[in-house]
Amino acid sequence: MNLTAESHRIPLSDGNSIPLLGLGTYADPQKTPKGTCLESVKIAIDTGYRHIDGAFVYYNEHEVGQAIREKIAEGKIKREDIFYCGKLWNTCHPPELVRPTLEKTLKILQLDYVDLYIIELPMAFKPGDAIYPKDENGKIIYHETDLCATWEVECHPYFTQPKLLEYCRQHDIVIVGYSPLGTSRDETWVNVSSPPLLKDPVLNAIGKKYNKTAAQVALRFSIQRGVVVIPKSFNPQRIRENFQIFDFSLTEKEMKEIEALNKNVRYVELLMWRDHPEYPFSDEY
Ligand code: A2P
Repeated sequence: MNLTAESHRIPLSDGNSIPLLGLGTYADPQKTPKGTCLESVKIAIDTGYRHIDGAFVYYNEHEVGQAIREKIAEGKIKREDIFYCGKLWNTCHPPELVRPTLEKTLKILQLDYVDLYIIELPMAFKPGDAIYPKDENGKIIYHETDLCATWEVECHPYFTQPKLLEYCRQHDIVIVGYSPLGTSRDETWVNVSSPPLLKDPVLNAIGKKYNKTAAQVALRFSIQRGVVVIPKSFNPQRIRENFQIFDFSLTEKEMKEIEALNKNVRYVELLMWRDHPEYPFSDEY
C-alpha cells in the first residue's frame, strides 16, 4: 500500500475507511488546562490528521467536538473527512444504556454521528451517576453484563501481538493499536517496569538513518504493518512530528529488527481490576 499524508486509509467491509494515523486525546484532566485539547485537535486537523480518538471518560470530548465543528465552519474540512471514535464507559454496558449513552456523547460533541463507537474496557462497573462507583471500602463495584463486542488492542514494538495480528489478517479485521508510543508512563495506570519504548536503541539508531525520531519510527512500523495508531500528543511540535511518517519507509530488514524487540509486556495492565470476571489480559490473544 502506498501511504501518503493525504491518503492513508484502510477500507472497512461496510464501505467506510479508517485513517491509519489518528490523534489520541487522553490526558490527565487534573493536570491539563482547559482548552488544551481544543487547540491540539485544531492543530492536528491543520496538520492533516483526519482521525481523532476520544472518549466520554476523558472529560474533554466537548473540546474535541468543538475543534471539529470550528474546522468545519472554517471550511478546512467537511464532517465526512473526519473519522471520530468514541467509547462506551464501564458503567453503561447494559444493552438498554448503550443507545442513550451514545446519544449523550453526540450531544457533548454536538455532532450528528460518530464513525466508530467501541467498548472502552470489557470490565463493567455498576451503572449509575458515579463514573467510578465504589463500596464503603473504596473498592470499585463491578457489574455483570454479557460481553460480546469489539475490543481495542495495545500494540507497539515492545508488544507486537503477532498471533492476534495474523488472526485479524485472516479474518479481515482492522486493529487499532493504543499506546503506540508506550504511553505517558503515568504510574497510576501504567506498568512502568517495562523500559520506555522511545529510549530503545534500535528505534533510535534506525531513526538516525532517516533523520527521524524513535517515535516516528515506532509509528511508521505500526502503519507499515497495517495497524492503525492513535498517538496522543497535546504538544504542537509533537503533533506535527507524529504526522511526518509518510515521507520515509522502513526496509523489510528494519521491520524484522523492530519486530524482534517484542517483549510481550503490556504497559496498560490495569491490575487493579484483575479480579473482575471480564478482566481480559490473563488470556493469550
Ligand atoms: P505530549 O502530549 O506532551 O506530546 P501514547 O500515545 O503511546 O499513549 O503516548 C502518549 C505520550 O507520549 C504522551 O505523554 C505524549 O506527551 C508523548 N508523546 C507524544 N508524541 C511524542 C513524540 N513524538 N516524542 C516523544 N513523546 C511523545
